[in-house]
Amino acid sequence: MAAAVSVATATLAILLLLAPFYVAAEVDTSAGDALISAITNHCCLKKFYYALQISRVESRLRDSVNQGPITVFAPTDDSFMKLDPELWRCATTGQGPLDVLSQIMLYHFVTSGNFTAAEVATKTQLTSASGMPIDVKDVNGNVVLEGYAAITGPDALTSPNATVHLIGELLVPETIVSTIQNVCRPGPASASLPSPGL
Ligand SMILES: *[C@@H]1O[C@H](CO)[C@@H](O)[C@H](O)[C@H]1NC(C)=O
Ligand SMILES: *[C@@H]1O[C@H](CO)[C@@H](O)[C@H](O)[C@H]1NC(C)=O
Repeated sequence: MAAAVSVATATLAILLLLAPFYVAAEVDTSAGDALISAITNHCCLKKFYYALQISRVESRLRDSVNQGPITVFAPTDDSFMKLDPELWRCATTGQGPLDVLSQIMLYHFVTSGNFTAAEVATKTQLTSASGMPIDVKDVNGNVVLEGYAAITGPDALTSPNATVHLIGELLVPETIVSTIQNVCRPGPASASLPSPGL
């Protein structure tokens, strides 16, 4: 009996000794956790993170970065403030279809590489996680996406397999602008929607 107890005690002691290493290893190996914590710790990506969560694109983002290098174009909180509050409420409170918001969120990262801003500048087009192309232009040394969203914080965050650039506008895929207008704002087109070519 005494021997059995001391074996059990020794096993428990070894498990307790090893436990911190298992925890550390787990934290180290998840690129998804590192990216999400970098985003949540950033001063100005609170609304972006909220939108990732409610659109359920957060898990897709985690999976993508665990599988390989990605580039994220993260709209800062002030870019969400530029949206018509009614549209934002419609897109986030279930009045509008959630798939509209998830299409918008999936339009904010690409899975073809973790590109620095300098590397992005050499491209003319990238394919977003939604499958829709993102047009890239170098305008007097500034990288501008879709003709209206400038990279305002190049290489703002880097984590394993991920590079995050801050952008000054929410990217809205051209193909769903009219859907948003029909669902969220029946009637005349809203002037506050980001429109390509603005
Ligand atoms: C980064 O992506 C590679 C695949 O390109 C993958 O094997 C690796 O596990 C990822 N790194 C991390 C830290 O998840
Ligand atoms: C891309 O990710 C790999 C693996 O995490 C890293 O070694 C490399 O420095 C990253 N490159 C950039 C530009 O972030």
